Amino acid sequence: MIQIAVAKPVIGEAEIEAAVRVLRSGNVVQGPEVAGFEEEFSRLVDDRHCVAVNSGTSALQLTLLAMGIGPGDEVVVPSFSFAATANAVRLVGAEPVFADIERDSFCLDPEAAAAAISPRTAAIMPVHLYGHPAAMDRLGALAERHGLALVEDAAQAHMASLGGTPTGAFGTAGCFSFYPTKNMHSLEGGMVTTADAELARKVRLLRNQGMEQRYANEIVGANMRMTDVAAAIGRVQLGRLPEWTERRRANAKALDAGITTLVTPPVAAGAEHAYHQYTVRVPEAVGRDEAQRALAAAGVGSAVYYPTPIHRLIPYAAQGPSSERTWDLPETERAAAEVLSLPVHPSLADADIDRIVAACNALETTTGAGK
Ligand SMILES: Cc1ncc(COP(=O)(O)O)c(C=O)c1O
Repeated sequence: MIQIAVAKPVIGEAEIEAAVRVLRSGNVVQGPEVAGFEEEFSRLVDDRHCVAVNSGTSALQLTLLAMGIGPGDEVVVPSFSFAATANAVRLVGAEPVFADIERDSFCLDPEAAAAAISPRTAAIMPVHLYGHPAAMDRLGALAERHGLALVEDAAQAHMASLGGTPTGAFGTAGCFSFYPTKNMHSLEGGMVTTADAELARKVRLLRNQGMEQRYANEIVGANMRMTDVAAAIGRVQLGRLPEWTERRRANAKALDAGITTLVTPPVAAGAEHAYHQYTVRVPEAVGRDEAQRALAAAGVGSAVYYPTPIHRLIPYAAQGPSSERTWDLPETERAAAEVLSLPVHPSLADADIDRIVAACNALETTTGAGK
């Protein structure tokens, strides 16, 4: 039986042709394809300035650097995310301060974020986890009240929105990833989005050794440029993104309607989910390991994002919170123990959806647990 994969990156003929075209042109690094990609991507984020870089992690790191965030500063982040969220903070020499998530959205809880603010806080960095927008209205108000930067980790949230505003267009800056399993990719890549022209300029300088004009270095910078091969692939994928996102949403709707044994993911009022992941909670009576084994036996792939919250990963657990803090993250711990992501990607056929639903609903009969 062929296993239905939980993620399926698309590298089709159009992507290959685009890459070959750029290679033949000889203009391969941060050239016209990168400029075109930035311009086209800006239409997704209310025409904000867009700066392409070589990964989502670089996007986060350069954004924080450009904001002048560094040693002595704290950034409030969720612990229930991919390590890159906190790594970017540490890489600039600042400290991540972990706040809990909301049960329904899996995203940063504005009340918990408020409680985590200290005189050292420089920014709040919510993550639109799985493609569900964080509560940006309340987080935006919180950041404004305290005069803090708001950085959206939108690595998983291309084309998500809240109240009609797209993710990546709320914060002081938004940071996207184009890693192959993301809703669209450029092999590797990232994008910084911002309404602040000066911030965009700083990120442009930082990604290219501090230069705008060749050899007229203005500041200390890194090499985090995107290649034109990556940008050309990204442009092909961007063109397909609306259709793919629609397909993800239709797949999610069918899974919502069909699955009765697991807790399907709620969507907040006014939110449009991008369904980077379709993530259920597995009731304790079913058991997540047992569920994964039974699904695999039925040809359905699944994955746990993320089994260990960031604050319990070695680089963060070793240090622990500073003396005046303790990490009290019950929803984070609960999510890490319960979540399971099922296939939702646009390459699924209707028959695949039927197979996923049937395999999930068979869990009920083997264990006797209900929704
Ligand atoms: C929430 C989150 N933040 C940041 C990143 C980092 O992106 P990249 O892998 O492109 O560096 C990822 C993806 O891997 C992610 O899922």
